[in-house]
Amino acid sequence: MSEQQPKSENRGRPTTEEFRAFVATGWAPRGSEPPARAEVVPYAATRRAAVSARFPGERLVIPAGGLKVRSNDTDYVFRPHSAFAHLTGLGADREPDAILVLEPRDGGGHEPVLYFRPLADRDTDEFFGDARYGEFWVGARPTLADIEAELEISARHIDEFGDAVAKDLGTVAVRVVRDADPEIAAQIDRARESMGGQESQQEAQRESERASQQDSQQQADEELAAFLSHLRMVKDAWEIEEMRAAIAATHRGFEAVIADLPEAVRRGRGERWVEGVFGLHARHQGNGVGYDSICASGDHANTLHWIRNTGEVHEGDLLLLDAGVEVDSLFTADVTRTLPVSGTFSEAQRTIYDAVLAAQQAGIAAVKPGNTFSDIHAAAIRVIAEHLHEWGLLPEGVGVEETLDTEHGQYHRRWMVHGTSHHLGLDVHDCALATREQYMDAELAPGMILTVEPGLYFKADDELAPAEFRGTGVRIEDDVLVTATGCENLSAAMPRTAGEVEAWIADIWARDSESRRGGR
Ligand code: GLY
Ligand code: MN
Ligand code: MN
Repeated sequence: MSEQQPKSENRGRPTTEEFRAFVATGWAPRGSEPPARAEVVPYAATRRAAVSARFPGERLVIPAGGLKVRSNDTDYVFRPHSAFAHLTGLGADREPDAILVLEPRDGGGHEPVLYFRPLADRDTDEFFGDARYGEFWVGARPTLADIEAELEISARHIDEFGDAVAKDLGTVAVRVVRDADPEIAAQIDRARESMGGQESQQEAQRESERASQQDSQQQADEELAAFLSHLRMVKDAWEIEEMRAAIAATHRGFEAVIADLPEAVRRGRGERWVEGVFGLHARHQGNGVGYDSICASGDHANTLHWIRNTGEVHEGDLLLLDAGVEVDSLFTADVTRTLPVSGTFSEAQRTIYDAVLAAQQAGIAAVKPGNTFSDIHAAAIRVIAEHLHEWGLLPEGVGVEETLDTEHGQYHRRWMVHGTSHHLGLDVHDCALATREQYMDAELAPGMILTVEPGLYFKADDELAPAEFRGTGVRIEDDVLVTATGCENLSAAMPRTAGEVEAWIADIWARDSESRRGGR
């Protein structure tokens, strides 16, 4: 539900009865053709079946979340909670305030019901007068029949949710994904409380029982959220295709940035230019960026989450571009390429680049069933540590084994403090609520999609780094799919070796000047 109501009464205008009647009429009938069934329907049904099997007999509430205020009466573009998107198949912009309820059936299993705010009739105030939800202001929404045709699940008006969720609350266990919509969670809590305690009990005893019930309810809700997060770890065939589309779109966005590198230098404020160019293509080809792009030139590459993008792009810099297109279904790529702005790497830049690439290749080689998630990092970080040792950067007397020993040292982390991998999907850091056993310690399984993204970062003021390395940061990040025998690098079409990257840039610039000469 909406976190707060917009405030714009000072700009409101009174309406007359005559206007209301006038604005409600004179419109062509709405189209009667229902939307086509979405391709995701059978996949979403299979995902819901897994949830149903895990929580038999319980009412499960998975909200999409509400509109979030950006400032006063201006909302952010809506993005549904990832658990909701996963279980319904609804993607970009859909549907603010909606709630998926998996209602237990008497004979077993669950009936999925989507409560949402359907298209309002034209004789309602909402139609012309509601700047947040009205068709005049933010466009038309689907009807109940539209949603049923598209998703093949029952649809009901959001106004029916309150009674439906409160029904048989004394006998049916209810779990809710709290963080998706805290207001819905609070509504359910209030409904539970209004069932009341034993009037004869002492107030203090009632209070302590209530607190302990709240704790166990909280725990039950967390179990649901964790299950739904882990459920996304192995992708189905439809999800894998969406990820391929996101990566292909990201590839095109990177090529557009490469074509514009000279422009980013020439115009000044070049990191902003890079962000804008990638964002343009992300928005054009998909829903937008899957996370704020990191457009980090020169020393900024050493700030791991440099999303301010306020700097210059200079000739001779390396530009670390970490960016991903999120497609309309909300699946996102997450790719990093470190690009020489002038088209060629200097010797020192290439030395660092080759070390990171070697680490990445070792990490990718470790992506196979039988290995655990943490084996990927172990493989990549060993190569990083070997290079740091070879360059004489580890403290006197500390070898590769000593620094890698988790009980000691870990000196290498000064130059690569982050992990090598994370799961990727609807969230850029997907499956975040899975337990350590399900994530770090889990065996890799076909259908998992994860990143492999080692880096080396030498800050400009790092007095322990060789002078020629200072102010240089390199990360190389690809998105890989675990297969039955190993893995497929889904972003392999984007060049990775230093030589290939140089040739890639030269080729794009040559094509670009060719097309300019051709007057296009
Ligand atoms: N783009 C954030 C990350 O690579 O994890
Ligand atoms: Mn990543
Ligand atoms: Mn990234």
